[in-house]
Amino acid sequence: MFILSIETSCDETACSVVKDGIIEVSRSVSSSKELHEKTGGVVPEIAARKQVEYMVPVINDALEKFCEKENLNFEKVLRSGEGIDAIAVTTGPGLIGSLIVGIEAAKALSLTWNKPLIPVNHLMGHIYANFLNHSEKIEFPAVGLVVSGGHTDLILIKNHDDVEYLGGTIDDAAGEAFDKTARLLGLANYLGGVLLSKKAAECKNNVAAGKLPRTMLDKDKYDFSFSGLKTAVKRLIDLNEYSVEEVACEFENAVVDVIVSKTIKAAKEFNAKCILMGGGVSANTSLRTRLSFEAETTKTPVYYPELSLCGDNASYIASAAYFLNKEKPLQNVLPNPSLGIMDEA
Ligand code: KG4
Ligand code: ZN
Repeated sequence: MFILSIETSCDETACSVVKDGIIEVSRSVSSSKELHEKTGGVVPEIAARKQVEYMVPVINDALEKFCEKENLNFEKVLRSGEGIDAIAVTTGPGLIGSLIVGIEAAKALSLTWNKPLIPVNHLMGHIYANFLNHSEKIEFPAVGLVVSGGHTDLILIKNHDDVEYLGGTIDDAAGEAFDKTARLLGLANYLGGVLLSKKAAECKNNVAAGKLPRTMLDKDKYDFSFSGLKTAVKRLIDLNEYSVEEVACEFENAVVDVIVSKTIKAAKEFNAKCILMGGGVSANTSLRTRLSFEAETTKTPVYYPELSLCGDNASYIASAAYFLNKEKPLQNVLPNPSLGIMDEA
């Protein structure tokens, strides 16, 4: 089964074709990220305008690659949707203007080609990115960890259609904390997570160790809180006693300590057969290494998407659509900017 998927939740415009939920046949992604770097944050109006501009070229590009691989005639596929079995689209969470562009494009294709339309929750999509690399190894129950720019969630996946919410952030998301700290350290105005992580890796002797709080580490629940961290980081910087590398390293350790500890606790409590990590922050080397190392003690395998699939793209949307398969009539596929991980797309 070939699914053509569309993802436009924020500043990426993406389209993919995926076979049977696990084989990526084609992927195309355009981004308006550079424009938001100038303003130090995403401007929803600009993101939406760029989605409109990029949407058709991105769909064409993904289809061209699909036709090349499957030896099909592009013009014919474009007209009839030949070879495509269903359309999938992100309905939330995200920016309303951006979401609308992708949803309306998906509806147009679904209507013109007479193919079913499957709405997908972006957050579940991040987890399903793992099926593109590790499908044959994944077993349930699994603990799912979403760490992205806007969300931090822990879930228990008993089966594709049986998911339980364990906890999530009560304020800032992990990625948001990385980005805000990167800005405080003067590393980047927008999406500074990667740069902060690079600086942290340059720290040879962490003399700032233990100077930042591990918030909610002692709490029984699976909730997280990262907003207090940035105030603590500010205070640490103002002391003028530590280098950028040392503060970055201590910050990264503080975030990783809490995420790893809560995820391992959940894996133990629910006898998870594996841990599935997803979202932009799952690209973080320290998080990947520490989680895998700690999970080794309980022999729980940890899976994370290949680097290029951690950030926003449409391939994992197709994967989630395949496994969750909840086709809906066109009129019921609507944008929902504040969709939570447990909400139906
Ligand atoms: O999942 P994503 O691409 O977009 C959302 O759905 O939010 O996540 C983006 C987030 C940003 O906060 C970015 O700074 C962070 O992921 N990020 C990282 C790394 N790579 C991306 N944070 C820490 N370390 C990284 N290597
Ligand atoms: Zn995302």
